[in-house]
Amino acid sequence: MSTEPETFEPYASLDKRPFELAPGVRLWREALSRTQQAVLVEEIVRLSADAPFYRPTMPRSDRPFSVEETNFGPLGWYSDKNGYRYEARHPLTGRAWPAIPSLLLSLWRDLTAYPELPECCLVNLYRQHARMGLHQDRDEAALDAPVLSVSLGDVALFRFGGTARRAPSRAVRLVSGDVVVFGGAARLVFHGVDRVLSGTSTLIPGGGRLNLTLRRVNPLRPK
Ligand code: SIN
Ligand code: MN
Repeated sequence: MSTEPETFEPYASLDKRPFELAPGVRLWREALSRTQQAVLVEEIVRLSADAPFYRPTMPRSDRPFSVEETNFGPLGWYSDKNGYRYEARHPLTGRAWPAIPSLLLSLWRDLTAYPELPECCLVNLYRQHARMGLHQDRDEAALDAPVLSVSLGDVALFRFGGTARRAPSRAVRLVSGDVVVFGGAARLVFHGVDRVLSGTSTLIPGGGRLNLTLRRVNPLRPK
């Protein structure tokens, strides 16, 4: 019997217009209800027993990230001294990644106009002091697809700028249940997490913040 929920209560704010943080960067504030957030966290904990969190390392220097990561979906984003890339298997277990939870696929269908499902759900776990430097998501051939990002747990100071590293940037507080979508002219915006405000939520067992980033990797097949 599937343990995945089949139906979901209405999203808290999906029926409302998102905040346009910048052209092409949209925020649905607390789009997931508390119940949906708890269901999702429970599912992530369950799936991460099969695909455990690990600490990726930086290309060349091999320095470990401060975030821990795992993935769901046919492809997982991975980084080590050999570079950034997508892998079909978990680096430690050698097993295929677990399927992307259906709640996240529903969000993708509802909030993006993209005709195919995402192939990767990167899961970032921010325990105390973890952060993420300013970067672009550019390891995907399907740059016509947007990036959809869900925040769970502690508040994050999310920074985003322009498509050039030195362009002015600003930070926005992302709270648990928030969904951000960036695409089109904003698909390659630089973004990162300055810091996570530790102890602002009790949602995540052991504390901290989870971020789920959905991406399409391969371009659409010609019809
Ligand atoms: C990422 O860009 O991979 C994560 C962003 C976030 O944690 O909000
Ligand atoms: Mn990113």
